Amino acid sequence: MARNTVNSLLKMKAEGKRISQITCYDYTTARVVDASGIDTILVGDSLGMVMQGYENTLPVTMEEMIIYGRSVVRGTENAFVVIDMPFMSYQCSVEQAVMNAGRLIKETGANAVKLEGGVSVAPQITAIVDAGIPVCGHVGMTPQSFNLQSGFKVQGKNETNAERIIRDALAVQEAGAFMMVIECVPPKLAALITSKMNLITIGIGAGAGCDGQVLVNQDMLQVTSDFLPKFVKHYASVGEVMLEAYRNYDREVKAGTFPEVAHSFPKSDCSDEFLKAMDEKY
Ligand code: KIV
Repeated sequence: MARNTVNSLLKMKAEGKRISQITCYDYTTARVVDASGIDTILVGDSLGMVMQGYENTLPVTMEEMIIYGRSVVRGTENAFVVIDMPFMSYQCSVEQAVMNAGRLIKETGANAVKLEGGVSVAPQITAIVDAGIPVCGHVGMTPQSFNLQSGFKVQGKNETNAERIIRDALAVQEAGAFMMVIECVPPKLAALITSKMNLITIGIGAGAGCDGQVLVNQDMLQVTSDFLPKFVKHYASVGEVMLEAYRNYDREVKAGTFPEVAHSFPKSDCSDEFLKAMDEKY
Protein backbone atom coordinates (compact mmCIF):
# COMPACT_ATOMS: atom_id res chain seq x y z
CA MET A 1 0.00 0.00 0.00
CA ALA A 2 1.27 3.50 -0.84
CA ARG A 3 0.83 6.52 1.41
CA ASN A 4 -2.41 8.44 0.89
CA THR A 5 -2.05 11.81 -0.79
CA VAL A 6 -4.18 14.92 -1.28
CA ASN A 7 -5.23 13.48 -4.66
CA SER A 8 -6.05 9.99 -3.37
CA LEU A 9 -8.14 11.48 -0.56
CA LEU A 10 -9.98 13.86 -2.93
CA LYS A 11 -10.60 10.87 -5.23
CA MET A 12 -12.17 9.01 -2.29
CA LYS A 13 -14.54 11.95 -1.78
CA ALA A 14 -15.36 12.08 -5.50
CA GLU A 15 -16.21 8.36 -5.42
CA GLY A 16 -18.43 8.83 -2.35
CA LYS A 17 -16.06 6.83 -0.10
CA ARG A 18 -15.93 7.99 3.51
CA ILE A 19 -12.59 8.97 5.00
CA SER A 20 -11.38 7.85 8.42
CA GLN A 21 -9.10 9.96 10.60
CA ILE A 22 -7.85 9.53 14.14
CA THR A 23 -5.53 11.55 16.33
CA CYS A 24 -2.18 10.05 17.26
CA TYR A 25 0.86 11.40 19.08
CA ASP A 26 3.53 8.67 19.31
CA TYR A 27 5.49 6.14 17.23
CA THR A 28 4.16 2.84 18.58
CA THR A 29 0.51 3.86 18.39
CA ALA A 30 1.12 5.28 14.90
CA ARG A 31 2.36 1.86 13.75
CA VAL A 32 -0.84 0.19 14.97
CA VAL A 33 -3.06 2.91 13.46
CA ASP A 34 -1.16 2.67 10.18
CA ALA A 35 -1.67 -1.10 10.03
CA SER A 36 -5.43 -0.69 10.62
CA GLY A 37 -6.19 0.95 7.28
CA ILE A 38 -7.26 4.30 8.78
CA ASP A 39 -6.77 6.83 5.97
CA THR A 40 -5.35 9.81 7.79
CA ILE A 41 -3.77 10.66 11.13
CA LEU A 42 -4.11 14.00 12.87
CA VAL A 43 -1.28 14.95 15.22
CA GLY A 44 -3.71 17.21 17.06
CA ASP A 45 -2.80 19.86 19.59
CA SER A 46 -5.26 17.89 21.74
CA LEU A 47 -1.98 16.26 22.79
CA GLY A 48 -1.78 19.13 25.29
CA MET A 49 -4.76 17.56 27.06
CA VAL A 50 -4.40 13.81 26.54
CA MET A 51 -0.59 13.52 26.59
CA GLN A 52 0.36 16.44 28.83
CA GLY A 53 -2.62 16.86 31.16
CA TYR A 54 -3.42 20.53 30.43
CA GLU A 55 -6.99 21.81 30.77
CA ASN A 56 -7.06 22.94 27.14
CA THR A 57 -4.83 23.16 24.05
CA LEU A 58 -3.56 26.71 24.55
CA PRO A 59 -0.17 25.96 26.22
CA VAL A 60 1.07 23.66 23.41
CA THR A 61 4.24 24.94 21.68
CA MET A 62 5.75 24.50 18.22
CA GLU A 63 8.62 22.50 19.72
CA GLU A 64 6.20 20.06 21.36
CA MET A 65 4.21 19.62 18.13
CA ILE A 66 7.46 18.86 16.33
CA ILE A 67 8.58 16.21 18.83
CA TYR A 68 5.25 14.38 18.81
CA GLY A 69 4.76 14.88 15.04
CA ARG A 70 8.13 13.38 14.13
CA SER A 71 7.44 10.28 16.21
CA VAL A 72 4.10 9.72 14.47
CA VAL A 73 5.50 10.18 10.97
CA ARG A 74 8.25 7.63 11.72
CA GLY A 75 5.54 5.10 12.60
CA THR A 76 3.57 5.45 9.35
CA GLU A 77 3.86 4.23 5.78
CA ASN A 78 0.29 4.54 4.54
CA ALA A 79 -1.65 7.14 6.48
CA PHE A 80 -1.63 10.79 5.36
CA VAL A 81 -0.39 12.78 8.37
CA VAL A 82 -1.91 16.17 9.20
CA ILE A 83 -0.29 18.20 11.99
CA ASP A 84 -1.90 20.99 14.01
CA MET A 85 -0.44 24.47 14.11
CA PRO A 86 -0.50 25.35 17.83
CA PHE A 87 -2.13 28.42 19.37
CA MET A 88 -0.34 31.67 18.42
CA SER A 89 1.84 30.03 15.75
CA TYR A 90 -0.20 31.50 12.85
CA GLN A 91 -2.62 34.14 14.17
CA CYS A 92 -0.16 37.07 14.32
CA SER A 93 0.73 37.43 10.65
CA VAL A 94 0.79 35.70 7.29
CA GLU A 95 4.59 35.58 7.43
CA GLN A 96 4.57 33.94 10.87
CA ALA A 97 2.04 31.36 9.61
CA VAL A 98 4.11 30.41 6.54
CA MET A 99 7.33 30.16 8.57
CA ASN A 100 5.74 27.91 11.20
CA ALA A 101 3.84 25.76 8.69
CA GLY A 102 7.14 25.27 6.85
CA ARG A 103 8.91 24.31 10.08
CA LEU A 104 6.25 21.74 10.94
CA ILE A 105 6.48 20.09 7.54
CA LYS A 106 10.28 20.31 7.30
CA GLU A 107 11.03 19.09 10.83
CA THR A 108 8.37 16.36 11.14
CA GLY A 109 7.80 15.05 7.61
CA ALA A 110 4.01 15.48 8.02
CA ASN A 111 1.96 15.88 4.84
CA ALA A 112 -0.28 18.84 5.73
CA VAL A 113 -0.93 21.39 8.45
CA LYS A 114 -4.23 22.20 10.18
CA LEU A 115 -5.21 25.57 11.57
CA GLU A 116 -8.37 26.85 13.22
CA GLY A 117 -10.65 29.66 12.03
CA GLY A 118 -12.31 30.88 8.86
CA VAL A 119 -12.51 34.37 7.41
CA SER A 120 -9.86 35.69 9.82
CA VAL A 121 -7.20 33.15 8.78
CA ALA A 122 -8.01 32.94 5.05
CA PRO A 123 -4.92 35.00 4.05
CA GLN A 124 -2.72 32.64 6.10
CA ILE A 125 -4.27 29.57 4.41
CA THR A 126 -3.69 31.00 0.92
CA ALA A 127 -0.08 31.89 1.69
CA ILE A 128 0.69 28.45 3.19
CA VAL A 129 -0.87 26.70 0.17
CA ASP A 130 1.11 29.03 -2.13
CA ALA A 131 4.24 27.83 -0.33
CA GLY A 132 3.36 24.29 -1.43
CA ILE A 133 1.87 23.00 1.83
CA PRO A 134 -1.59 21.39 1.89
CA VAL A 135 -3.90 22.93 4.50
CA CYS A 136 -6.75 21.47 6.55
CA GLY A 137 -9.08 24.12 8.01
CA HIS A 138 -11.11 23.77 11.21
CA VAL A 139 -14.45 25.52 11.86
CA GLY A 140 -17.33 25.32 14.34
CA MET A 141 -16.02 24.72 17.84
CA THR A 142 -12.38 25.75 17.64
CA PRO A 143 -10.61 24.66 20.84
CA GLN A 144 -7.92 27.36 20.56
CA SER A 145 -10.79 29.87 21.07
CA PHE A 146 -11.51 28.17 24.42
CA ASN A 147 -11.82 31.49 26.26
CA LEU A 148 -13.77 33.32 23.53
CA GLN A 149 -16.21 30.42 23.11
CA SER A 150 -16.57 30.10 26.93
CA GLY A 151 -15.19 26.54 27.06
CA PHE A 152 -15.89 23.56 24.83
CA LYS A 153 -19.41 24.49 23.66
CA VAL A 154 -21.48 23.33 20.68
CA GLN A 155 -21.46 26.08 18.03
CA GLY A 156 -23.92 27.12 15.32
CA LYS A 157 -27.09 26.56 17.33
CA ASN A 158 -28.54 30.00 16.58
CA GLU A 159 -28.98 31.49 13.11
CA THR A 160 -26.35 34.24 13.48
CA ASN A 161 -23.72 31.79 14.67
CA ALA A 162 -24.70 29.18 12.05
CA GLU A 163 -24.34 31.73 9.22
CA ARG A 164 -20.95 32.81 10.59
CA ILE A 165 -19.76 29.18 10.45
CA ILE A 166 -21.03 28.81 6.86
CA ARG A 167 -19.12 31.97 5.88
CA ASP A 168 -16.01 30.68 7.66
CA ALA A 169 -16.23 27.35 5.82
CA LEU A 170 -16.63 29.07 2.46
CA ALA A 171 -13.63 31.30 3.24
CA VAL A 172 -11.50 28.23 4.12
CA GLN A 173 -12.43 26.60 0.80
CA GLU A 174 -11.91 29.81 -1.20
CA ALA A 175 -8.49 30.23 0.44
CA GLY A 176 -7.33 26.89 -0.97
CA ALA A 177 -7.67 24.30 1.83
CA PHE A 178 -8.20 20.71 0.64
CA MET A 179 -9.72 19.43 3.88
CA MET A 180 -11.62 20.95 6.82
CA VAL A 181 -12.60 19.71 10.27
CA ILE A 182 -16.13 20.68 11.35
CA GLU A 183 -16.33 20.32 15.13
CA CYS A 184 -19.36 20.24 17.41
CA VAL A 185 -22.10 21.78 15.31
CA PRO A 186 -25.63 20.45 14.71
CA PRO A 187 -25.66 17.64 12.09
CA LYS A 188 -27.93 19.51 9.64
CA LEU A 189 -25.54 22.47 9.57
CA ALA A 190 -22.50 20.21 8.99
CA ALA A 191 -24.34 18.39 6.17
CA LEU A 192 -25.37 21.70 4.59
CA ILE A 193 -21.76 22.95 4.70
CA THR A 194 -20.51 19.64 3.25
CA SER A 195 -22.98 19.95 0.35
CA LYS A 196 -21.40 23.30 -0.60
CA MET A 197 -17.78 22.04 -0.47
CA ASN A 198 -15.35 20.59 -3.00
CA LEU A 199 -12.89 20.10 -0.13
CA ILE A 200 -13.11 17.11 2.21
CA THR A 201 -15.11 17.71 5.39
CA ILE A 202 -14.12 15.73 8.49
CA GLY A 203 -16.67 15.79 11.29
CA ILE A 204 -16.27 15.44 15.03
CA GLY A 205 -19.47 15.84 17.01
CA ALA A 206 -21.06 17.02 13.75
CA GLY A 207 -23.17 14.03 12.68
CA ALA A 208 -22.84 11.59 9.80
CA GLY A 209 -23.23 14.09 6.96
CA CYS A 210 -19.52 14.89 6.58
CA ASP A 211 -17.14 13.20 4.13
CA GLY A 212 -15.21 11.62 7.00
CA GLN A 213 -14.88 11.44 10.76
CA VAL A 214 -12.14 12.04 13.32
CA LEU A 215 -11.95 10.99 16.98
CA VAL A 216 -9.34 11.56 19.65
CA ASN A 217 -7.47 8.27 20.13
CA GLN A 218 -7.56 8.17 23.92
CA ASP A 219 -11.30 8.98 23.92
CA MET A 220 -12.32 6.21 21.49
CA LEU A 221 -10.06 3.67 23.23
CA GLN A 222 -11.35 4.79 26.65
CA VAL A 223 -7.91 4.96 28.18
CA THR A 224 -9.30 6.96 31.11
CA SER A 225 -12.93 7.60 31.95
CA ASP A 226 -12.61 11.13 33.32
CA PHE A 227 -13.67 12.90 30.08
CA LEU A 228 -16.68 11.70 28.13
CA PRO A 229 -17.90 13.99 25.35
CA LYS A 230 -21.33 12.98 23.98
CA PHE A 231 -19.99 12.42 20.46
CA VAL A 232 -17.41 9.80 21.46
CA LYS A 233 -18.05 6.12 20.86
CA HIS A 234 -15.86 3.74 22.84
CA TYR A 235 -14.45 1.07 20.54
CA ALA A 236 -12.54 -0.59 23.41
CA SER A 237 -11.85 -0.20 27.13
CA VAL A 238 -8.08 -0.08 26.84
CA GLY A 239 -7.67 1.65 30.21
CA GLU A 240 -9.20 -1.39 31.97
CA VAL A 241 -6.88 -3.78 30.11
CA MET A 242 -3.86 -1.63 31.06
CA LEU A 243 -4.92 -1.39 34.69
CA GLU A 244 -5.32 -5.15 34.96
CA ALA A 245 -1.88 -5.71 33.36
CA TYR A 246 -0.17 -3.18 35.70
CA ARG A 247 -1.84 -4.77 38.75
CA ASN A 248 -0.70 -8.27 37.71
CA TYR A 249 2.87 -7.06 37.12
CA ASP A 250 2.98 -5.25 40.46
CA ARG A 251 1.68 -8.38 42.25
CA GLU A 252 4.16 -10.73 40.55
CA VAL A 253 7.19 -8.48 41.16
CA LYS A 254 6.25 -8.21 44.81
CA ALA A 255 5.64 -11.98 45.08
CA GLY A 256 8.94 -12.76 43.32
CA THR A 257 7.17 -14.77 40.59
CA PHE A 258 8.40 -12.46 37.82
CA PRO A 259 10.83 -12.88 36.12
CA GLU A 260 10.76 -16.64 35.50
CA VAL A 261 13.67 -18.61 33.99
CA ALA A 262 12.17 -18.07 30.53
CA HIS A 263 12.63 -14.31 30.94
CA SER A 264 16.37 -14.44 31.81
CA PHE A 265 19.69 -15.14 30.04
CA PRO A 266 21.18 -18.19 31.85
CA LYS A 267 23.94 -18.83 29.25
CA SER A 268 27.30 -17.49 30.47
CA ASP A 269 31.03 -18.21 30.04
CA CYS A 270 31.57 -17.69 33.78
CA SER A 271 32.08 -21.01 35.61
CA ASP A 272 30.46 -21.75 38.96
CA GLU A 273 34.00 -21.80 40.42
CA PHE A 274 34.59 -18.26 39.19
CA LEU A 275 31.33 -17.01 40.72
CA LYS A 276 32.21 -18.77 43.98
CA ALA A 277 35.62 -17.08 43.93
CA MET A 278 33.96 -13.69 43.31
CA ASP A 279 31.57 -14.34 46.16
CA GLU A 280 34.47 -14.99 48.52
CA LYS A 281 36.56 -12.07 47.23
CA TYR A 282 33.87 -9.40 47.60
O1 KIV B 1 -6.47 18.70 18.25
C1 KIV B 1 -7.28 17.84 17.86
O2 KIV B 1 -7.18 16.66 18.19
C2 KIV B 1 -8.34 18.27 16.96
C3 KIV B 1 -9.44 17.29 16.69
C4 KIV B 1 -10.33 17.18 17.85
C5 KIV B 1 -10.18 17.62 15.45
O3 KIV B 1 -8.33 19.38 16.50
